[in-house]
Amino acid sequence: MIKAYAAFEAGAELKPFEYDPGALGFDEIEIDVQHCGICHSDISMINNDWRMTRYPIVPGHEVIGTISAVGEHVTHLKTGQTVGLGWHSAYCATCHSCVSGDHNLCSTATGTIIGHHGGFADKVRAQAISAVPLPDGLDAAKAGPLFCGGITVYNPLVQYDVKPTDKVAVIGIGGLGHMAVKFCHAWGCEVTAFTSSDNKRDEAIAMGAHHTLDSSDPAAIRAAAGRFDMILSTVNVKLDWPAYLGTLNKKGRLHFLGATLEPVQVSVMQLMAGQTSLSASPVGSPAIIAEMLDFAARHDIEPQTEHFEFDQVNEAIARLKSGDARYRVVLSR
Ligand SMILES: NC(=O)c1ccc[n+]([C@@H]2O[C@H](COP(=O)([O-])OP(=O)(O)OC[C@H]3O[C@@H](n4cnc5c(N)ncnc54)[C@H](OP(=O)(O)O)[C@@H]3O)[C@@H](O)[C@H]2O)c1
Ligand SMILES: [Zn+2]
Ligand SMILES: [Zn+2]
Repeated sequence: MIKAYAAFEAGAELKPFEYDPGALGFDEIEIDVQHCGICHSDISMINNDWRMTRYPIVPGHEVIGTISAVGEHVTHLKTGQTVGLGWHSAYCATCHSCVSGDHNLCSTATGTIIGHHGGFADKVRAQAISAVPLPDGLDAAKAGPLFCGGITVYNPLVQYDVKPTDKVAVIGIGGLGHMAVKFCHAWGCEVTAFTSSDNKRDEAIAMGAHHTLDSSDPAAIRAAAGRFDMILSTVNVKLDWPAYLGTLNKKGRLHFLGATLEPVQVSVMQLMAGQTSLSASPVGSPAIIAEMLDFAARHDIEPQTEHFEFDQVNEAIARLKSGDARYRVVLSR
């Protein structure tokens, strides 16, 4: 039996929950969970904000642990190896996206916490190709958040060929946003952090931002007109998107990573005038995750974390909800 923490209905506190995972699949591994970050998506899933939660839900998709068992066809991973597991715990491996290396776009991928039990547990199962070995040089206690938040903000740098000469803005300096600042700084970009929290400004500069602006101040946004080649939005709320579009340089891109539910209303004429783009992306493929981990190890990029015991999971979730966490809450044993 796997000992986990689950929510049994929308918005409920997590309670101890045991389940029988059955026989280990031939292409699966079992991971002894040592650390698991808490992403805002865990909260949205507990609350059924996206209308796709199946209860009981065991959240947790920023897992670090050691492999305790491997299925009979798994040859590239070994028991005892330290790996991470993110948003996806299996891919079809045969669709056009999968064979093109875009596993994160696979329409039938299994979400680690969607109809599958996640990492707020002593063990978690996953298809072996969805777990990525942790390279030397990364601290296992802090690396979990790289597997969802980290890859989500790193992937657009690769997908859209962001250049070291580009000016990049990050909106929202939370779990995703603080890692975005660190990655964009190491990528060589001029980095602007948009935050609604005055007390994060100095910290954003210490993480590598060159400038900070108040994300809720219309005058500050207007003053940045025409500046950015890429904006990475990590907020889950509606902001004044036309005003942010106005801060794009010609051919710039406003890219959504935060799961804002309200529709985005923009003027086609505004996009047309500067040949600007709007886009969004989900996490990243296992290959890009592996590249991101190597990049993080080489540039000493690590999430800034606060740690709770697994049996303090409800306190840990409350800490993330408070908005005071600096910057990612992680369960550790
Ligand atoms: N695309 C993907 O694949 C993917 C992957 C992971 C997560 N997500 C989504 O990304 C979003 C962020 O996740 P997270 O874990 O980074 O959350 P988080 O740690 O709570 O950070 C969100 C940040 O947004 C800003 N914010 C919150 N409310 C705001 C408001 N009313 N006005 C302005 N700014 C506000 C805050 O930054 P400041 O204090 O700096 O203003 C906050 O720290 C969530 O929607 C999550 O579901 C998407
Ligand atoms: Zn996540
Ligand atoms: Zn597929």
